[in-house]
Amino acid sequence: MELKEIAEKMQEVARGAGRLITEAKHPEVFVKEGHANFVTSMDLASQKYIIEGLAGLLPGANFFAEESEQNRLKPGYNWIIDPIDGTTNYMLGYKHSCISIGLVQDGRGVAGVVYNPYLEEMYVGIENQGAFLNGQPIHAANRGMEDAVILFGTATYYQELADLTFAAAKAVFDRCADVRRSGSAALDICYTACGKCDAYFEIRIQPWDYAAASVVAREAGCAVTGLQGSDIRYDNPVGVLTGNPAICREIYRIVDEQAARLKGER
Ligand code: IPD
Repeated sequence: MELKEIAEKMQEVARGAGRLITEAKHPEVFVKEGHANFVTSMDLASQKYIIEGLAGLLPGANFFAEESEQNRLKPGYNWIIDPIDGTTNYMLGYKHSCISIGLVQDGRGVAGVVYNPYLEEMYVGIENQGAFLNGQPIHAANRGMEDAVILFGTATYYQELADLTFAAAKAVFDRCADVRRSGSAALDICYTACGKCDAYFEIRIQPWDYAAASVVAREAGCAVTGLQGSDIRYDNPVGVLTGNPAICREIYRIVDEQAARLKGER
C-alpha cells in the first residue's frame, strides 16, 4: 500500500478519535505515577478506537502507544500513538489537545498525522511528499530570533528538569519576541511546521508525543533533532528541538549554556 493511502486511513481514524473525545460528556480522570500525571477514560477509549482502526492495515506492525503497559520499538513498521496529547488541557476543557498517530519504519518516521478536533485542523507529513494542514502545503517560518515566538514544554512528572527548562525558557525569552507553553507537544511541533511559531524545545519527551509531529515538521523544512543536534530516534524519551534551523542552533547553545551555568561550570 502507498504511503499516501496509509496516511488517508490514518486521518480517517484520527478524525473518528477526535469525534469520540470531543463528544464525551464526563470523562473519568485517573492518576498515573508521578507528579500531576493524569489519564482519562477517553484517553483509553481513543487509544482502543485508534488501534482497532489501524489493525490489519499493515499486518505485523507493532503498536507503541502511550496508554499501553509495554512499549518497545521493533524492527519494521511501528504505529506510535498518543490518543490524547494535551491530557491536562482536555480534562480542564481548555480545548487545545490533539490525536497523534505516527508511522515509523525501521527507526525512520515515514508518516505522521496530528489532528486538533476543536479547530478541525489536520496536520499531515508524508516522507518525501511534504507537509500539509487541511490539505494545503505548509512550511517553516523564516523569521529571525528577535521576531520569533518560541514554544517549550516540560512534563510535570520530570520535576528534576524544571530548573533547566525554565532557565532556558527565560534565556530564550530575553532574546526572542515571546514564548509559549501550550500543554500539547504534538501541536507545538506542528505550529513550528506551519510557521505559526518559530521553534519548540523540550528537555525530555516521550516518543508518542513527538513521533507523528516530527514527520510533519521535517517535511515542512524544519530542523528536527535532539537537543545536541543528534538524529531523532523513536525508542526512548529524548530532548527534542524543532523549527527554523538557524533559531534551533541558537536554542541549542542557550540550553547548553544554562545547563553549564546550573552545574556551576560557567
Ligand atoms: C504532554 C504534553 C506536554 C508536554 C509533556 C507531555 P500528554 O503529553 O505533550 O505539552 O510538555 O511532555 O507529556 O501527557 O498530555 O499526552
